[in-house]
Amino acid sequence: MKAEIGHQPPSEPNKNVFKNGKEELSSTMSKELSALQHARAKYQPKLPKCLTDGEVHIQMGAPSAPATHAEEIKALFPKTYGQPVATILPGHNSLTTEPLNVAVVLSGGQAPGGHNVIAGLFDALKAANENSRLFGFLKGPIGAIKGNYKEITAEMIDAYRNTGGFDMIMSGRDKIEKPEHLAACEKNFADMNLDGMVIVGGDDSNTNAAVLAEHMKSVGAKAVVVGVPKTIDGDMKNEYIEASFGFDTAAKVYSELIGNICRDATSAVKYWHFIRLMGRAASHVTLECALQTHPNITLISEEIQAKGTTLEEIIDYIVDVIEKRSAQGKNYGILLVPEGLPEFISDIKVMIDELSNILGKDEQYIHGLPDHSQRVQYLSAELSDASAKVYASLPTDIQEVLLKRDSHGNVPLSQVETERLLIDLVTEKLRFRKAHGGDGVKFSSLSHFFGYEGRCAAPTNFDADYTYSLGYSAAQLVREGLTGYTAHVQNMTKPSDEWIAGGIPVTMMLNMEIRKGKPTPVIKKALVDLNGAPFKTFAKNRESWALDDEYMFPGPIQYFGPSEVCDAPTKTLTLEKS
Ligand code: FBP
Repeated sequence: MKAEIGHQPPSEPNKNVFKNGKEELSSTMSKELSALQHARAKYQPKLPKCLTDGEVHIQMGAPSAPATHAEEIKALFPKTYGQPVATILPGHNSLTTEPLNVAVVLSGGQAPGGHNVIAGLFDALKAANENSRLFGFLKGPIGAIKGNYKEITAEMIDAYRNTGGFDMIMSGRDKIEKPEHLAACEKNFADMNLDGMVIVGGDDSNTNAAVLAEHMKSVGAKAVVVGVPKTIDGDMKNEYIEASFGFDTAAKVYSELIGNICRDATSAVKYWHFIRLMGRAASHVTLECALQTHPNITLISEEIQAKGTTLEEIIDYIVDVIEKRSAQGKNYGILLVPEGLPEFISDIKVMIDELSNILGKDEQYIHGLPDHSQRVQYLSAELSDASAKVYASLPTDIQEVLLKRDSHGNVPLSQVETERLLIDLVTEKLRFRKAHGGDGVKFSSLSHFFGYEGRCAAPTNFDADYTYSLGYSAAQLVREGLTGYTAHVQNMTKPSDEWIAGGIPVTMMLNMEIRKGKPTPVIKKALVDLNGAPFKTFAKNRESWALDDEYMFPGPIQYFGPSEVCDAPTKTLTLEKS
């Protein structure tokens, strides 16, 4: 049975109702709670001053335009192109106080704070009118396409305040892109009598929000569509979005683990630890962890690309550091590598782009071939000679991963074990140097990948406050009837009463990129800026970090205690804003 949503929402909200009558409540709700969970549930996230006064209005700026490809984007988004930046200001309430039906969906990879976005949205909608109702589409955008949802109640919200994970309504990576998906959403939203839909996601999902907003507006549908910037990767940022939520917590979890490994390395004095960090193409997570822990070697993909460094040169650099440390009697060390590295090494990048084009045409055929050796044979004829050589030189497991693409056309980099590849190549190079007159060094290595460990951690105070504010802001944008916007909060290195909140038109953040061989509008990913303060701080220190043991030990995330321990933003944000 589908949830019944009348045009007049009942004053007594229904108990959770699910399509097919199935209760899909996560088991986390019925389990015994830890002492920290109990204490954390009581934490009241901070809100910007403009959102604490009850009455708000929205000030619209000048018409906006994207930095590049303006004509193409205007042609693709005629109804939502050029909208102004919206700022939420206190007082003179001009937003609707009518009861609203709003839905929320969590899209893509988990990021700490997702539940607080929902809590902020819920609290803000109820504060404006207690008869407003919030629904969660289940398992990501597919829930919106198929019409699978549940009503979110006060009881559920209370059980999930300040918790990590996306388990309240789950997530998924489906994309609302085909005409039949848009039509299905249009119908489901109308059936649910939705006034608004909030899509919590990264660059691709916020792009999707713009596509859906454009569609809804062009067919004259009532529901507005608003995005919220989520991703631990930290690559959805610009003048208005200071950080995507989840980056703070995830990077701090990884930094704690790296610090622990630094301590182990200097205690056991016998291992080189090669640690790969999640974060997709951008090296923000890796750079933040380097600033927090001072490892001996950190590879930053963006620098490698800018310098055109080859894989061979990277291996030489690593081996040089290993040999220099060994000469000082240190046969141990820590190396950090971003998961996106393969896409930034020039010859591998060219090969991946060629593969994407081939997959754009022949994906089904290639995956239909009976075994991998036949795929390699087929591809070696299709790829340029140079790329065929690079592809053939990679281990089979990496070759196989490079043939996969997610629904947004991205290579699933979290499955490419670059740290093991580097260990193999370094071992080979050390042997080669020894065979050619080198002294030879002891090299025992261990590989690690930190990714999934950090994505569902309980949000730091920073992420708990930030996400609650984002949810609260998204509710105001919906109340104002704005569509095709991403909610944002700024000034976050300042006390919360100085934060600025509002919405940025998504079309303003778009550019055209080749995805699966076709020009596609997407939000431009923010990569590490080599002229920015975070990278420069790292570059200034890396030589001494390489040879001296200047490790730092950030320790576990703290929720209670002195503000400088519990509320500090990332080094990246602090340096960018200083
Ligand atoms: P989003 O872009 O969806 O936020 O992805 C975050 C992320 O954790 C990436 O860092 C990682 O490469 C990817 O998800 C892993 O994907 P999956 O969850 O499908 O394994």
